[in-house]
Amino acid sequence: MKLSTWVLIVLGAMLFSQPAWGADDTCISCHKKLSPGQVADWESSKHSKEDVSCSSCHGTTHTTEKDANLAQMPDEAVCAECHEEQFKQFSKGKHNFGWTSMNAMPITHVEPDELMEGGRGCGGCHNMGIKSEAQKKEQHDKGYRYQTNSCDECHTRHSFSKKEALNPRACQQCHMGYDHPQWEMWSSSKHGSRYLSKEVGDLPPNAAAPKCQDCHMPDGNHENRTAWGFLGVRLPLPEDKQWAADRVVILKALGVLNPETGEPTARLDAVKAVDLARLTEEAWSTEREKMITVCSKCHSEKYAREQLAMGDSIMQKSDRLMADAIEIVAALYKDGIIKKPADYSFAYPDLLFFMRTGGSDINAMSHIDQVLFRMYMKSRMRTYQAFFHVNPDYAYWYGWAMMTKDFGEIKELAHTLRATHHK
Ligand code: HEC
Ligand code: HEC
Ligand code: HEC
Ligand code: HEC
Ligand code: HEC
Ligand code: HEC
Ligand code: HEC
Ligand code: HEC
Repeated sequence: MKLSTWVLIVLGAMLFSQPAWGADDTCISCHKKLSPGQVADWESSKHSKEDVSCSSCHGTTHTTEKDANLAQMPDEAVCAECHEEQFKQFSKGKHNFGWTSMNAMPITHVEPDELMEGGRGCGGCHNMGIKSEAQKKEQHDKGYRYQTNSCDECHTRHSFSKKEALNPRACQQCHMGYDHPQWEMWSSSKHGSRYLSKEVGDLPPNAAAPKCQDCHMPDGNHENRTAWGFLGVRLPLPEDKQWAADRVVILKALGVLNPETGEPTARLDAVKAVDLARLTEEAWSTEREKMITVCSKCHSEKYAREQLAMGDSIMQKSDRLMADAIEIVAALYKDGIIKKPADYSFAYPDLLFFMRTGGSDINAMSHIDQVLFRMYMKSRMRTYQAFFHVNPDYAYWYGWAMMTKDFGEIKELAHTLRATHHK
C-alpha cells in the first residue's frame, strides 16, 4: 500500500470519529461553566484519559440548555459494558439487595417517602443494588430520576476512582451509627488505630493493619457477604436446646414464624428472597472459612478461630436475654394490657416495624415495644458486631451493658403497666 493510501485511511478514521469527539467537547465546554466541579472530577479520572466521556455514560440526546431532561442517567448496566467482572461479582453479593430488602420491610411503606427516595434516610444508604424495571418505573412515577447507580456509592461520580474506594472512609457513610456502627468500632479498634497510624506515616506502608476492604472485599472481589449477616439469625436452628428455643422466640418477633402456630409465614419467603440469612450450615461455614483465611494472613489460624467463636458465644448469650425480653412484652399483648397496632399481623411484638408508630395510627406502638426494638436493633447488634470488629468498649458499654439496661427497663415498664391497667 502506498503511503498516501495510509494517510487517507488515517484521515478518514479521524473524520469518522469526529462527531463523537465534537459532541463531547460541547458537553464539556458548556458544563465547565455550568458545573465546573463535575468536570474537574471527570478530568481527574482514568476515564478522561481513556476516551470515556460524558456521552459514553449519558448519551447524546441532550445537547442544549433546554433539553437537559433528555440526558440519560446511567445504571449499572452501562458500567458493565466495560467492567463486566466487577458487575457480575457485585450482582451476586449482598450489596445488590440493598434496595429490595429495604422495600421488603413493612416500615418502608408507612414512613414518609422523602426518607426512601431522597438520598437521605433509609434510601440514602439502601441505594445499593441493581433496580428491576418495575422498581425503576415506580421511582419514575414518583417523578424521581436519580439514584439509578450503585457503583458510584464507593467510586464516587465523577472521579470513579479505585483509590477512593479502597479507603475505608468509602464505607463510612453507610456502615455507621445506630444499628451498624462498623466504622466507629473498627476505627477505634487495634486494627483501625494501626491503620490510621499507618496512614499518617507513623508505621511503615507494609505494616499489618486490616481495613474493611481487606476483610470484606479480599482480592478486590465485589461479591460481599458474611456468615451471620445483619440480623444475626440463621438456619438451621442450633443444636443447643435453650439457644434453639430462644431463636424461635426471636424469629417470631421478626414475623418469620407465626407466634401462635410456630409455622413459617409469608415473610420468611421475603427474607429468603433478599439473602438476609444463611439458610444452611454449609452456606454459613463457607463464609466463615473465607474470613478465617483472611485473619490467618496475620494471626495463627487457631487464634482466629477462637476469636470468631467468642463472637458466636456472645451472640448465644445475647439471644438468651433477648428472648426473655420478647416474652415479657408478648405476655402484655396476650393479656390485653397493650393493644395490637392495626398494621401488625399478630398481637405479638414485631421488630420489623422498627421505632415506628405501627402504621396509620401514630400512637399505636407502645413505648415498651420501642424499648424492645432498641434492645434488639441497637444494643444486641453492638454486642456481637463489636466482637467481630474487635472493639472492647462497644462490646461491653454500648453493647452488653445497654442490653441489660434495656432489659431492666422492660421489666419495670411491664410491672407498671400491669399495676396501672384498668380492665
Ligand atoms: C449548551 C449547554 C449544554 C450542553 C452543550 C450540554 N449540556 Fe448538559 N446540561 C445543561 C443544562 C443547562 C443542564 C441543566 C442543569 C440544571 O438543571 O442545573 C444540563 C444537565 C445535564 C445533565 C443532568 C440532567 C438532570 O436531569 O439533572 C446531564 C447528565 C448532562 N447535562 C449531560 C450532558 C452531556 C452528556 C452533554 C453532551 C452530549 C451535555 N450535557 C451537553 C447544559 C448543557
Ligand atoms: C463513567 C460514566 C459517567 C461519565 C463518563 C460521566 N457521568 Fe455524569 N453521571 C454518571 C452517573 C453514574 C451519575 C448518577 C446517575 C444516577 O445515580 O442516577 C451521573 C450524574 C450526572 C449528573 C446529574 C447528577 C448531579 O449530581 O448533578 C450530571 C449533571 C452529570 N452526570 C454530568 C456529567 C458530565 C458533564 C460529564 C462529562 C464531563 C459526565 N457526567 C460524565 C456517570 C457518568
Ligand atoms: C466505555 C467503557 C467504559 C464505561 C462505560 C465505564 N468505564 Fe470505567 N473504565 C474504563 C476504562 C478504559 C478504564 C481504565 C482502565 C485501566 O486503567 O485499567 C476505567 C476505569 C475505571 C475504574 C478504575 C479507576 C482507577 O482509579 O483505577 C473504575 C472504578 C471505573 N472505571 C468505574 C466505572 C463505573 C462505576 C462506570 C459506570 C458508571 C464505568 N466505569 C463506566 C472504561 C469504561
Ligand atoms: C451507600 C451505602 C453503602 C456503602 C457506601 C457501603 N455499604 Fe456495605 N452495605 C450497605 C447496605 C444497605 C447493606 C445491606 C444490603 C442488604 O440489604 O442486603 C450493606 C451490606 C454490606 C455487607 C454484608 C453484610 C451481611 O449482611 O453479610 C458487607 C460485608 C458490607 N456491606 C461491606 C461494605 C464495605 C467494606 C464497604 C466499603 C468498601 C461498604 N460496605 C460500603 C450499604 C453500603
Ligand atoms: C479484621 C477483619 C475485619 C475488618 C477490618 C472489618 N470487618 Fe467487618 N466483619 C468481620 C467479621 C469477622 C465479621 C463477622 C463475620 C461472621 O459473621 O462470621 C464482620 C461483619 C461485618 C458486617 C456484618 C454485620 C456485623 O457487623 O457483624 C458488616 C456489615 C461489616 N463487617 C462491615 C465492615 C466495615 C464497613 C468495616 C470497616 C469500617 C469492617 N467491617 C471492618 C471482619 C472485619
Ligand atoms: C462497596 C464499595 C464498592 C462498590 C459498590 C463498587 N466497587 Fe468497584 N471497587 C471497590 C474497591 C474497594 C476496589 C479496589 C479493589 C482492589 O483492588 O482490591 C474496586 C475496584 C474496581 C475497579 C478497578 C479494578 C482494577 O483492579 O483495576 C473497577 C473497574 C470497579 N471497581 C468497578 C465497579 C463497578 C462497575 C461497580 C458497580 C457494579 C463497582 N465497582 C461497585 C469498591 C466498590
Ligand atoms: C446510615 C445508613 C442506613 C440507613 C439510614 C438505613 N440503613 Fe438499613 N442497612 C444499612 C447497612 C449498612 C446495612 C447492613 C449492615 C450490616 O450488615 O451490619 C443495613 C441493613 C438493613 C437490612 C438488612 C438487610 C440484609 O439482608 O441483611 C434491612 C432490612 C434494612 N437495613 C432496612 C432499612 C430500613 C427500612 C431503613 C429505614 C427505616 C434503613 N435500613 C435505614 C444502612 C442503612
Ligand atoms: C492485615 C493483618 C491483620 C488481619 C488480616 C487481621 N488482623 Fe487482627 N490484628 C492485627 C495486628 C497487627 C494486631 C495487633 C497485634 C496483636 O494483637 O496481635 C491485631 C490484633 C487483633 C486482636 C487483639 C486486639 C487487642 O487489642 O489485643 C484480635 C482479637 C484480632 N486481631 C482478631 C482478628 C480477627 C478475628 C481477624 C479476622 C477476622 C483479624 N484479626 C485479622 C493484624 C491483622
